[in-house]
Amino acid sequence: MTSGFDYTGLLRSDLPAAAAKWTGFPKYNFVGGHNDADSVPVAHLIEAATRVLQREGRTLSMYGMHSGPLGYRPLREFIAAKLARDAGIRCDADEVLITSGSLQGLDLVNSVFVAPGDAVIVEDMTYAGTITRLQRLGARIVGVPVDAHGLSASALREALVRLTAEGIRPKFIYTIPTVQNPTATVMPEARRREILALSSEFRIPIFEDECYADLVWDGVRPQALRGMVNDDQVVHIGSFSKSIAPALRLGYVVASWPMMSRILPMKTDGGSGALEQMVLAEYCREHFEPHVHALRKTLRGKAEALMAALRAQFGDQAEFEDPAGGIFLWVKLPARVDTTKLAQVALQAGVAINPGAEWMTDPVAGKVRTRICFAHSPVENIREGVGVLAEVCRREFGVPTQEAKSHR
Ligand SMILES: Cc1ncc(COP(=O)(O)O)c(C=O)c1O
Repeated sequence: MTSGFDYTGLLRSDLPAAAAKWTGFPKYNFVGGHNDADSVPVAHLIEAATRVLQREGRTLSMYGMHSGPLGYRPLREFIAAKLARDAGIRCDADEVLITSGSLQGLDLVNSVFVAPGDAVIVEDMTYAGTITRLQRLGARIVGVPVDAHGLSASALREALVRLTAEGIRPKFIYTIPTVQNPTATVMPEARRREILALSSEFRIPIFEDECYADLVWDGVRPQALRGMVNDDQVVHIGSFSKSIAPALRLGYVVASWPMMSRILPMKTDGGSGALEQMVLAEYCREHFEPHVHALRKTLRGKAEALMAALRAQFGDQAEFEDPAGGIFLWVKLPARVDTTKLAQVALQAGVAINPGAEWMTDPVAGKVRTRICFAHSPVENIREGVGVLAEVCRREFGVPTQEAKSHR
């Protein structure tokens, strides 16, 4: 149905491009952060929902239940205990704010720091959602290279020296240290200490985004940057999207009260969904650990299937590092491939991939890269989809040069 009303001159002139209508998922869906459908713990979530609603359902009559504006207290207590055990973060439940996904955490932290024209430092390969948000806020985005150990300390020093010489104090250093998106590297402890030392020296806080940290293959998560200092030199966000399910839309911000008291007034939605918080808290108490243990194994298997399919189809023309965990593989193709174009033509053949240009602060450098999510598709679908991708890529760019092996 078309709208009969004429909005000309009424809508803001700086809105983002109009959304395209959703037309369903492609057959081979390797984009975004969708997770493994068979791993969603449906039966235990049903049990948890029944139990918690019978016990506490009446508290839904109040905004914030009995827990106040930071979110459902048992969930905040679970997060605080888990972060102490797994990430070395000392915080109490009142230093945890429940958010609607860590995307809301990103928005909230950005909103207290970033005004138009402010400089922010990010990894030069980073989460597209972070880049678009900072662009929309009118930030000056300074990309600093990442290497096999995450954010490069020497390049960070150079950037900080350069900005200081220009009289600019960036608002924060945004980093994804544990299973970086998109490179899937884990920053070792020594590098973490170097980054923290630079943050202290130049008096620039760190904005730490750890939404994949539960998915390090061996289950051993390094101490978080926040855990190494335990104060607001590091503002920390996390999520249940990758460990349980993205559609739950539950994440969190960790900050001490002086910072939290500035962030909280920016969360103006009356609280994140209460049912999700209650059910998740009830579920996590008993089941979180065994669940992520099994999920990691499943994801590792799928990562291996994807790497094997790429080797079979592209040979050494697809370059990638074995990921340290997570749900993505970051792939480099030969220079004559343009992955933005490849993503468009592949989609017509039913294969969705994320073009690298959207995951880099220098889109030109991202032209030969693509991010492939292996978490959602069954192994057979991964094999087939990579075969179709190779066919399309050869037709468009002559890569891979070898005839594809049978994949159907
Ligand atoms: C680095 C990073 N941060 C934040 C998010 C947002 O996730 P969510 O809002 O589902 O927690 C994502 C999602 O892919 C991500 O990769």
